Amino acid sequence: MSETKKLYIKTYGCQMNVYDSERMADVLSPLGYEMTETSDDADIMILNTCHIREKAAEKVYSELGRVRKIKQQRSANGKTTIVGVAGCVAQAEGEEMLARAPIVDLMVGPQAYHRLPELIRKIEAGERGLLEVDFPADDKFEKIPAANNAQIIARGPTAFVTVQEGCDKFCTFCVVPYTRGAEFSRPVEKIVAETTRLCASGVKEITLLGQNVNAYHGIGPDGDSWSLGRLLYALADVPGLERLRYTTSHPLDMDDVLIAAHGDLPELMPYLHLPVQSGSDKILATMNRKHTTAVYYDVIKRIRDARPDIALSSDFIVGFPGESDADFAATMQLVRDMEYSQAFSFKYSPRPGTPAADMEPQIEEHVKSERLSELQVLLRQQQHNFNQNCMGRKIPVLFTGKGRNPGQLVGRSPYLQPVHADAPEEYIGSIQNVDITQVGTNSLSGLCAGDNAQSEPSVQHKAIVEGAAL
Ligand code: SAH
Ligand code: SF4
Ligand code: F3S
Repeated sequence: MSETKKLYIKTYGCQMNVYDSERMADVLSPLGYEMTETSDDADIMILNTCHIREKAAEKVYSELGRVRKIKQQRSANGKTTIVGVAGCVAQAEGEEMLARAPIVDLMVGPQAYHRLPELIRKIEAGERGLLEVDFPADDKFEKIPAANNAQIIARGPTAFVTVQEGCDKFCTFCVVPYTRGAEFSRPVEKIVAETTRLCASGVKEITLLGQNVNAYHGIGPDGDSWSLGRLLYALADVPGLERLRYTTSHPLDMDDVLIAAHGDLPELMPYLHLPVQSGSDKILATMNRKHTTAVYYDVIKRIRDARPDIALSSDFIVGFPGESDADFAATMQLVRDMEYSQAFSFKYSPRPGTPAADMEPQIEEHVKSERLSELQVLLRQQQHNFNQNCMGRKIPVLFTGKGRNPGQLVGRSPYLQPVHADAPEEYIGSIQNVDITQVGTNSLSGLCAGDNAQSEPSVQHKAIVEGAAL
């Protein structure tokens, strides 16, 4: 039998990249490559990169400096190392990066991972400097072998499933439509099959991924185009599945079936990441977000009517070109009105080739910094308040691994908060009730009495799944 070779992947950016890194591991496993957690024993090192903000690409260049040292060290010991850059930086700046960082053997964009085996074979045969960044017409997922039982178990009780990729919205600040290409939805049957396989191997929680996940419109077994809502109703019936989540959504695509699913499906966790970016209609228009604040307020109201305890999350950009003090004040007001459970906030970062990079006036760095810290103080306070409201409650926690202290486990609440509790290791992968006794801004902790909180199977949603109730 040939010796196993080691594959190391460092992942940056969004959850889609986490999913893609696992697919790269799956596609290289038949070639004899096994994942390793340490970079210095790796025969292939891949950086799976993100291009969303400036610093991300800079991080890749500095990481390549470290990689060069490891490669030289290994070479001194007679070992070869293949260095690859994947992900959105490879897609956007592959050619430039190959010229600037000659230690890179391979640049591969997110749509070409199914081609990795042949690319790696070429490099093993002596080729260098390969660039593979086309958007092929074929479905890359079709050509990637499924993870096997052992791989699924090793990855733990939660898993991502990409259902949609790419984006047609073209917000004026964003690189995603250029790095990930046009919207593409996977067929319903493929998603149900992947989810069924994951759950049969012990996965309890599935997060459906897409850059614009609620724009999902995959072909169903009946030949119709299915919405994300309808897909969720179908997935809720998969044996063994306990929890469902999806991310990231756009306010325009929150349709009635999806909102109803939040009320109907106990498996669908009460957490929604729905980025609004700004509370100013003027800024939303120049961002080309295609919705107003009124639309956002209305969507949130309808979701809260359907699922009153829903935890709400968002993304914000401060210092977008033309953002005045009044525009920023409108963002602060929107945050006060919404009461987020947590949120992500960023200073606007001009991305080459996107329309907003050329808009005037650009906002001075110190103004961006001041606005960001003011917003973050408010968001942290809201996060703290949200966590404080969990004090004294009994909350079902899906334990995912060991905590920092001996005897402790860590898991997630339905609202996606990390929760720590002393509990035996065999609880990893199960949902247990935890009495919350301590809360911080970032996490909760409590006592686990050992009363299993595995939910009753929910009623089947035949009418909706079969389209009769739509
Ligand atoms: N598809 C999602 C988010 C994609 S990117 C959506 O529609 O909202 C994740 C987040 O990064 C965005 O929500 C935005 O807040 C932030 N972001 C994207 N481009 C940015 C830029 N040029 N500068 C600063 N933040 C940016
Ligand atoms: Fe980017 Fe806008 Fe598409 Fe989100 S909706 S991925 S922010 S272009
Ligand atoms: Fe980054 Fe690409 Fe995701 S730019 S956020 S890795 S889609």
